[in-house]
Amino acid sequence: MSDLDAVIHSATEIATVRSGNGLGDILDTLEDGAVAVQNGKIEAVGDTDTIVTKYPPENAQVTIDASGKTVVPGFVDPHTHAVFAGDRSDEFEAKLRGKSYQEILSEGGGILRTVRATREADDETLLENLLEHLDVMLAHGSTTVEVKSGYGLDTETELRMLETIARADEHHPIDLVPTYMGAHAVPEETGTDRYVDELIDEQLPAVESQGIAEFCDVFCEEGVFDVQQSRHVLEAGQEHGLKPKIHAEEFVRLGGAQLAADLGATSADHLLHATIEDVWALNDAGTVPVLLPGTAFGLGAEYADAREMLAEGAPVALATDFNPNCYAHSMGYAMTLACVGMQMTPAEALVAATHNAARSIDRPTSGLLEVGSPADLCVLNASSFVNIPYNFGVNCVETVLKDGKIVHNK
Ligand code: NIG
Ligand code: FE
Repeated sequence: MSDLDAVIHSATEIATVRSGNGLGDILDTLEDGAVAVQNGKIEAVGDTDTIVTKYPPENAQVTIDASGKTVVPGFVDPHTHAVFAGDRSDEFEAKLRGKSYQEILSEGGGILRTVRATREADDETLLENLLEHLDVMLAHGSTTVEVKSGYGLDTETELRMLETIARADEHHPIDLVPTYMGAHAVPEETGTDRYVDELIDEQLPAVESQGIAEFCDVFCEEGVFDVQQSRHVLEAGQEHGLKPKIHAEEFVRLGGAQLAADLGATSADHLLHATIEDVWALNDAGTVPVLLPGTAFGLGAEYADAREMLAEGAPVALATDFNPNCYAHSMGYAMTLACVGMQMTPAEALVAATHNAARSIDRPTSGLLEVGSPADLCVLNASSFVNIPYNFGVNCVETVLKDGKIVHNK
């Protein structure tokens, strides 16, 4: 069998994640396990003896002896703002001294400051910055990452950001999922209503002709875009072929989750102030709730109520929300915060960081470790997947495979 890409054998633990209802029970663990990979896909999973007999490691291009180690699916990070220029580390200190996120924004800092730096940056700088962040994410086990535009807030820069995502996707092993988010903030030079008109009449048609973006996202929040304005933008996005996503109920409960359900959005993200009625509506609509515990942690805010969502059968997903306000590249750390801050079990957190995350960006066949799924895998220097959230602050990802090829090796 010459086209055998890889055999990983003798793993102390393999955390298999199967397609299914998205709750913790789609995860099982195998002891002394092995995975055979052919043509970039998982060909077989089972105990080492059976697999190596049928798929001799010497016939594979890559053999990994994973004794003492754990194999998990590559992480899917379904919510990042990873293309930008500039530095906002001083705002971290301002927030520690008691300044709120909204105060910083209303003084022209926050998103608006990143917008100024991003508009001034040339294409190469934007690309280099994004690639650097992707390298860190890959080293922490992410194999698929959603990236939003939204630091341009004008047609030219929004298109440049999306182009940067497309170029990075070509250059980097991580699979990128591009989201257009012209409605990330209101630019300093325009009022909100006029800007919503610009988004609909000018930006969205240009984004459609460019043909890169897959999703349209809106920051539906008090002082940013209200529910009506968010609806207009997301409906116009749908007319231009973009699937809706939304930043909802982050600082206050405004109604973004109900809007997401009404539009059949792919995901509704943040949800710190979502109610049980919101959870029911999202479930009925098949909208995946994406929780970003790093953001709550960084803001010193209360976490979303993951336990309530899980009790209602919601396929909770996790993301880093990597951005200049939440400078966190690691899905493993998001899992720690999900466990410690939101009382998710390690199993729920792993499913949330892999398969449910993939579902929240409409990649239902990703984030899995089962026969037929893409061989996007992490080998951990740990005897169980539980170590990912348990051993916080330490990156236990040792080797990363994307489509069956080693793309990172510590
Ligand atoms: O998801 N909330 C809006 N957008 C980002 C923050 C972006 C920024 O502060 O630059 C978020 O947290
Ligand atoms: Fe965000």
